[in-house]
Amino acid sequence: MSTAEGTTVSPQGTLELRAWAEQILISDSVATKLAPVRPALLTDSCPGPAVRLVEPTRPANLQFAPRRSAPNMPPASRFNESRQRGIAHHIMANHELQALEVMAWVLLAFPDAPAEYRRGMATIMQDEQRHTRMHIERAAALDVPFGSLPVNCYIWKKAQSFGSLLDYVAGLPLTFEGANLDHSLQFEQWFLEAGDRKGAAVMRQIHHDEIEHVAFGWKWLRLLKPEDATEWQTYCAHLAWPLRPEKSMGDLFSSSSRLAAGMTPEFILELENFREGNAKPAARAQLKDNP
Ligand SMILES: [Fe+2]
Ligand SMILES: [Fe+2]
Repeated sequence: MSTAEGTTVSPQGTLELRAWAEQILISDSVATKLAPVRPALLTDSCPGPAVRLVEPTRPANLQFAPRRSAPNMPPASRFNESRQRGIAHHIMANHELQALEVMAWVLLAFPDAPAEYRRGMATIMQDEQRHTRMHIERAAALDVPFGSLPVNCYIWKKAQSFGSLLDYVAGLPLTFEGANLDHSLQFEQWFLEAGDRKGAAVMRQIHHDEIEHVAFGWKWLRLLKPEDATEWQTYCAHLAWPLRPEKSMGDLFSSSSRLAAGMTPEFILELENFREGNAKPAARAQLKDNP
């Protein structure tokens, strides 16, 4: 049975995680990809065989554009222009949509993941749907409708190298979402300086949720890591170039957000040692030696 948004639900109203992931990845409708689901109705009794989709289906105006053809993030100096803020929301809507698509991809690629891991992913996916909708709404309000600009595939392409649950944890929650702990605060500031309180409020909400998303990554890093390896060693060992610790941080570095996500002071110190232009040579050598 299908709802108005094209969601596949059972006669009892339940929705299998696999079916939900498939509709996010295979539907060419943004409304269907972002259709809210009731958490209590999500079931996971048939995770099915492992499937690795090469590309998500998207509407014609949101196809991944060739490299370097999507607009760059506007600098702080241009946030006083409403169109530039709209472009920023458009870029971030595509980031959020890719995060949702990658998470759906993980549900299909790793059906044997612990049930709690899959359930945790589903909760985060609902946040990513909401984040995408918030950015789309603000972009449209600033006369930049979603799909009116080329979009990149950076996050999706990097996810194609994930071969294990730990690869995902290191790559997406602890690197891309880790960096967004800083970026969301930075953008909140830029929106506020431009007098755009609505844009700032979106960034504040996303920052708040992102702490939980990074906490998910941290929790599973600790649960899945080898007993004789540290969190830092495991994190580095599961990053595939060009992902590296520097990519998990913005210009502004929020230690308190990372502490709130559960990271230890030791791990945060390792990260700080890796900040762009601030890496200790010994630490870099250690990373390169990792498989
Ligand atoms: Fe998000
Ligand atoms: Fe997130």
